[in-house]
Amino acid sequence: MKKIYLYGNWKMNMNQEETEGFYKDFGQQVVSSPALLGVMGKSLETAVFPPFTSLAAAEGASKNIDKRAVPFLGAQNTYFEAKGAFTGEVSISMLKNLGCTHVIIGHSERRTIFGESDDLIAKKVKACLDAALVPVFCFGETLAEREGNKTFDVVSRQLRAALSGRSPGEAEKIVYAYEPVWAIGTGKSATSDEAQEVCAHSKKLIRDLTGSAEMPVVVLYGGSVKPDNAKELLSMDAIDGALVGGASLKADSFLQIYKAYAGIE
Ligand code: 13P
Repeated sequence: MKKIYLYGNWKMNMNQEETEGFYKDFGQQVVSSPALLGVMGKSLETAVFPPFTSLAAAEGASKNIDKRAVPFLGAQNTYFEAKGAFTGEVSISMLKNLGCTHVIIGHSERRTIFGESDDLIAKKVKACLDAALVPVFCFGETLAEREGNKTFDVVSRQLRAALSGRSPGEAEKIVYAYEPVWAIGTGKSATSDEAQEVCAHSKKLIRDLTGSAEMPVVVLYGGSVKPDNAKELLSMDAIDGALVGGASLKADSFLQIYKAYAGIE
C-alpha cells in the first residue's frame, strides 16, 4: 500500500485545552490499534496545523504521547522577512523555535480573504526552503474558474509562480496541496476523477518546470475530505494524501479517514 500523508489544517479553531485534548485522544486511539501503530511513520505520515496560539500546547502535548502518532507540527502561515516592523506577522524562526517542521503557504483563504498574491506566496515558499521548513503549498481554482474552463490555466499559473527560480532539489522538498476553492468547507468534494486529473497535471507540470522527469513529487488533495469519501480519493494514483479541514478537528474522524482508506476496523 502506498504511503499516505494525512495533514490536518485546523484553521481558526482549537484553543490550547482543545489542542491538548486532541493529542491525548489521538495518542490513545493510535496505541490501542495495533494496525494503526504498525503504519505510523511508515505508510502513514501525520501532521497537524493548529493556530499560532496553540502551537506551544501542541508541541508540549506531543511529548506525552507515542512519538510516532503525530510526528510533525506546522503553522498555517508565516512571513518571509526574518524580523522587524511587521505588526501581526510571525517569522519562520519563531515557528521553528516552537517545534514546527512544516507551514501551510498560500491557502485559498489567505489568497481570497486576505489578498495574498502569487508573488508574496512565492517569497514565502523561498524563505521556508531557505530555512529548511517544509512549505505545504496550496493551489486551486474557484468555482467561476472551473465553470469557465480555466482550472488548468489557474493551477498552472499558481505553480509556475511558486516554483519560479526554485531548483529541482528545492521543488522536491515542497508538499503540494491541490484544494479547489469550491470544495473547501462546502461538503462538496471534488470527485476522485476531478481530483486525480488536476493532481496528475500538477505533478507533470512540476517535473517539467524543474526539468527533472523522475523527481518524486507529493501532491495532497484537500476539500471536504471525510471518512466516507477518503477511500475513493486516496486510492487515486496521483493523490498522495489529504489536507483535511473540518474532519481533522476530532482525533476520531481524522483517523477514520486513514482507516477507511486502509480498511482498518
Ligand atoms: P475542509 O476539509 O473543511 O473542506 O477544508 C479543507 C481545507 O481547506 C484544508 O486546508
